[in-house]
Amino acid sequence: MWIFSDNSKCIFFIWNQWCLYYAAVVCLLFSPVRTNNVCPTSCICAKDPGTVTCRDGEDTEVPGDIPEWTSTLILQGRNISTLRRGAFMSNGTELQMTTLSLSRNGIRAIEPYAFLGLPRLHLLDLSHNQLEYISGRAFHGLLQLRSLYLNHSISPAATEQLSNALDAQSLLNLHRLELAGNALKSIPPLRLDMHNLHALVLINNSITSVGGGDVTTLYQQKRVRVYLALNPFRCNCELGAFYYWLKNSSQCPDAGRLLCSEPEAKRGVPVENLREEDVDCMSENLEAVSYVFLGIVLALIGVVFLMVLYLNRGGIKRWLNNIRDACRDQMEVYHYRYEQDSDPRLANVAV
Ligand SMILES: *[C@@H]1O[C@H](CO)[C@@H](O)[C@H](O)[C@H]1NC(C)=O
Ligand SMILES: *[C@@H]1O[C@H](CO)[C@@H](O)[C@H](O)[C@H]1NC(C)=O
Ligand SMILES: *[C@@H]1O[C@H](CO)[C@@H](O)[C@H](O)[C@H]1NC(C)=O
Ligand SMILES: *[C@@H]1O[C@H](CO)[C@@H](O)[C@H](O)[C@H]1NC(C)=O
Ligand SMILES: *[C@@H]1O[C@H](CO)[C@@H](O)[C@H](O)[C@H]1NC(C)=O
Repeated sequence: MWIFSDNSKCIFFIWNQWCLYYAAVVCLLFSPVRTNNVCPTSCICAKDPGTVTCRDGEDTEVPGDIPEWTSTLILQGRNISTLRRGAFMSNGTELQMTTLSLSRNGIRAIEPYAFLGLPRLHLLDLSHNQLEYISGRAFHGLLQLRSLYLNHSISPAATEQLSNALDAQSLLNLHRLELAGNALKSIPPLRLDMHNLHALVLINNSITSVGGGDVTTLYQQKRVRVYLALNPFRCNCELGAFYYWLKNSSQCPDAGRLLCSEPEAKRGVPVENLREEDVDCMSENLEAVSYVFLGIVLALIGVVFLMVLYLNRGGIKRWLNNIRDACRDQMEVYHYRYEQDSDPRLANVAV
């Protein structure tokens, strides 16, 4: 009796243990907490190179269960309108991924700290989105980021916010910044003192001129290479400082591909091939000044002429009268002679 009771206690204890263990396993398998090793639904995973690719889905959020071993995450063709704070960080764990491609996801807004928990990210591609809002703290924490692609992605509303978001403190290691096809009207007022920036790609924007201030900054940042092809340059004398920068520094690798689009006469002419007179504000101003001067002189001559006429109006009247009198006298003489001459002719005819 005593032994039996002890035995049943023991069995109960073992059963209890087993039950707990089973519950724990079930919990682990079906827990909503990230399991860290399973491929997210609707994605393709290749564990060996560490690539997770999620294309064209209905999802409007970043998958919450990105495996821990991911080194490259490609998310494309989704409808993610907003990148929220810590979007790539579930349950507070950091991911060690180095490449994050988010092109063509219809992203409109990047909230503060969106890329939190990605301390080793090297490359971030946000091309071909429609960014209307970029928080000043959007890229916070990306201390290892070397390449940032924002081609065809920034709507005019977000152009100004961009400069704030790209402040040097978050992106200390940025080497390459691509901003092609964003209809930018000028070189964005970046803090080009981003210590490591080597390449700034501004191809296919709407930059018509680069002012003296920007040129000074460029001269100071000798390390940075600026790509500027396919911009509609206005080749007048305001382009002077930039023209000399193109010639003197070797900071624009595609200098030979920069073409004038204005004025009409110079359309298609490479900026480099302009003559110095074309971009010389002194001669342009002198020309303008000389035309103005000529105009003033002509006007003065006209005024003097009118004055002379006015002051001599008495004399002129007299002179005109004299002429008229002279004419009349002449006419009378003529008339008289005509009458005289007609008589003999008539006489002859009669004879
Ligand atoms: C994208 O998602 C938003 C809601 O988040 C929705 O209003 C919009 O219609 C969706 N667009 C497309 C193309 O599916
Ligand atoms: C997930 O979060 C819970 C509570 O917030 C914590 O107990 C658990 O350890 C976390 N898991 C991981 C893998 O960090
Ligand atoms: C734009 O971004 C892509 C990455 O999506 C890159 O491969 C390309 O070279 C960039 N530059 C231009 C000018 O398109
Ligand atoms: C330049 O950008 C526009 C959009 O901004 C795009 O439609 C066009 O194809 C681009 N041109 C080139 C040569 O990349
Ligand atoms: C660039 O070169 C031109 C002549 O080639 C010179 O007049 C100008 O001062 C130079 N500018 C700088 C900043 O070196």
